[in-house]
This record gives sequence, structure tokens and C-alpha cells, in this order.
Amino acid sequence: MLQSAESTAFLRGRLNKGIAVYPGSFDPPTNGHLDLIERGSKMFEQLVVAILRNSEKTPMFSLGERLEMLRELTADWSNVRIDTFDGLMVEYAKSIDAMCVLRGIRAISDYEYELQMALMNRKLEPTLETVFMMPAVKYSYVSSRLVREVAQAGGPVKDLVPDAVEQKLREKLDPAYKLRDPEIIEVPRKRKKKA
Ligand code: PNS
Repeated sequence: MLQSAESTAFLRGRLNKGIAVYPGSFDPPTNGHLDLIERGSKMFEQLVVAILRNSEKTPMFSLGERLEMLRELTADWSNVRIDTFDGLMVEYAKSIDAMCVLRGIRAISDYEYELQMALMNRKLEPTLETVFMMPAVKYSYVSSRLVREVAQAGGPVKDLVPDAVEQKLREKLDPAYKLRDPEIIEVPRKRKKKA
């Protein structure tokens, strides 16, 4: 039986040889996504972050915008590449020789959907393994959907998304959206008395 340090090194050695794909919508990328990308980049030789094209949902950010944001945000990780795909994810994974699919699980509520997807993907392509990783606890409630919802309603999304994404949200939603800095308390202006 391997000691735990040895088994970790063994596992790392195995995974290190492979390409992993981290598929998703990334609309927009959140700090939780980045946390997972960083963890995945340490575990795999190459990590391909793959944005789904032609989703049924109408995205807030175009494919081009998401591609650009993710490329900027991951520029410091030399083994991370950003790509797009459509059709079956397993077919895309095969086309880039990925041996693993990386997905994040934040809470038990994610588990059912992720398990179903992982098992369906295994049915479609038995050689492709799904690896689940947990983002930092501080991101366990962060999702793209909630970020969009909060931002659209004019709430602050600082700490939930990288600064560059916050800026893009600001640009996209202005003038309806005014990102409120919680440290700035707006004092209502006094009305001038009519003469
Ligand atoms: O970020 P999301 O929206 O949770 O990502 C979902 C995604 C893109 C990973 C999933 O919808 C997907 O892989 N779609 C591609 C089509 C496909 O292969 N469907 C079968 C999955 S069981």
C-alpha cells in the first residue's frame, strides 16, 4: 500500500501527463471558475477551458467577449488554453485528446446534476473520466447566474468576479446599472427652494 505522500505524487504523475477539459458556459467567468482553473492547472499537464457555443440560452456575454475575458484572466497560467466547442462535449474532448473532464462541485445541490452529466458522458464515452474539484469555500455560493441577477438588479458583485469582469458588467449594464461601492453612502441632495 502506498503512503499518502507517495500516492499523491503517483496520482499527480499520472494526471500530469494528460490534457483535461473544463467545459462550461462561463457567462460570465466568476472567481469560483478561476479558483477551479488554478487548481486544475496544478493538477494537469494542460487544461483546456472550453466555452459552449450555440447554447439554447441567450447569453449575457457574447462568445467573443467570454473568450477574451477568459484569455485575459488566465494569461499567467502557461498550461491553460481557452477554446470553444459545440455539439457533444465528449466528442470535443476526444478531438483534443483530453483524458479527463474537470467540473466543480460547490455544494451538495450541484451533485445531482453533475453526477447525471458525468454518468451520461461516461455512457457516451467510457474512456473519458470526470474529475470533480471543490472551489474555495468562500466561493461556494457564487454562480454566473446569481452574479448576472445581482448585477442586473444594480447590486455589487465585487469579490464574486475578477475586477475585469466587474468592469465589463458595468459597461454592459450602464446606465441602468450603477455598481454601488458599499463604502460610498449616497447622501440625497437638498432641493433648492423655489424663489
Ligand atoms: O457552465 P454550465 O452551463 O453548467 O456547463 C454545462 C456544459 C456546457 C458543461 C454542458 O451543458 C455540456 O457539456 N454541453 C454540451 C452538450 C453535451 O455534451 N451534452 C451532454 C452532457 S451530459
